Amino acid sequence: MRAVAVLEARPVTHPEVFVDLELPVPEPGPSDLLVRVEAVSVNPADVRVRQGKAADGEPRVLGWDAAGHVVAVGAAVEGWAPGDPVWYAGDVARPGCDAQLHAVDARIAARRPAGLTAAEAAALPLTTLTAWEALFDRLGFEAFAPAPERVLLAVGGAGGTASAVLQLARLIPGLTIIGTASRPESAAWVRDMGAAHVLDHSRDLQAELQAKGLPAPTDVLLLNAPDQHLEAVARLVAPQGRVCCIVPFLGPTDLNPLMRKSVSFHWELMFTRPIFGTSDLARQGWILGRVAELVEQGSLRTTLTEVVGALSAESLREAHARLESGRTIGKLVLTVP
Ligand SMILES: NC(=O)c1ccc[n+]([C@@H]2O[C@H](COP(=O)([O-])OP(=O)(O)OC[C@H]3O[C@@H](n4cnc5c(N)ncnc54)[C@H](OP(=O)(O)O)[C@@H]3O)[C@@H](O)[C@H]2O)c1
Repeated sequence: MRAVAVLEARPVTHPEVFVDLELPVPEPGPSDLLVRVEAVSVNPADVRVRQGKAADGEPRVLGWDAAGHVVAVGAAVEGWAPGDPVWYAGDVARPGCDAQLHAVDARIAARRPAGLTAAEAAALPLTTLTAWEALFDRLGFEAFAPAPERVLLAVGGAGGTASAVLQLARLIPGLTIIGTASRPESAAWVRDMGAAHVLDHSRDLQAELQAKGLPAPTDVLLLNAPDQHLEAVARLVAPQGRVCCIVPFLGPTDLNPLMRKSVSFHWELMFTRPIFGTSDLARQGWILGRVAELVEQGSLRTTLTEVVGALSAESLREAHARLESGRTIGKLVLTVP
């Protein structure tokens, strides 16, 4: 099968940052689906794995957002059959999906929504899983119970994850939703995804909040540049509120400013369940199934903004370069011929 891989960590400007390869078809394990991949998305996680690739001569296939069809099922898999449409993010500890065929644990996959193309579907799994887990598993919102007393601030522009967070948050009745953006076009997207108010994250967020006369957020999602924003977030968050961060800090971090307000701090990593094979691993398949229903009901929509091209070393390099700019709106997708 054809696949695109990294051989060693190289800057995105290097002409051979990715290579086109022929690799053996993966052998599905007992719990796996073998999937014919039709579209993949790119995420900052791909960039981090690429940049950390050891020069050991082993090809590493990236890609943790796929839509396709099942071609074979493992011996222990129930409820799936060849021909089923499927979508998933997968497991960063296993090879990624930038390939024609890919093996994934059936428990973290779901039937993809009818009515979306493979490209439209591939935009959603990783970011929507992250958003769902952050809102409902970490911050403790109840899906989709009214929360008129709560105010959510999602710091992350018009990025893939913020787009998923804002769309899910607007399904929570009564919740006040504040997004952030530093440019007119990203601010327009943030409003379109569900934010009632938009702060400029290139300025002090507390001053922005006060200038707009908005209430103190009870819940803050740090979806980008936490080192830059944590100090302002500690000043603006409501006493006894909650902060959830999805990005590692670049350096030592002082959480003491949150103590006086008894604000709790949560981490969300979408890969935790698959990496550790937690007992609730199948929740990821369940979440993606619920998200598919919400898409089919018209409550959620794709965050695809551009199909960069057909998957190849060159188109993947282009997608990574765009992602590394830190200015993408929604999601970039590649089709898999
Ligand atoms: N823990 C997890 O499971 C998980 C899952 C997904 C993503 N992540 C991480 O979350 C981060 C965001 O991912 P993503 O896919 O949403 O990224 P993305 O799509 O590349 O984000 C692009 C957006 O980031 C905004 N942005 C740029 N600089 C910012 C800043 N200093 N403060 C706030 N927003 C800023 C930009 O808004 P403007 O153009 O308006 O400035 C742009 O709209 C990445 O670090 C990624 O690795 C973690």
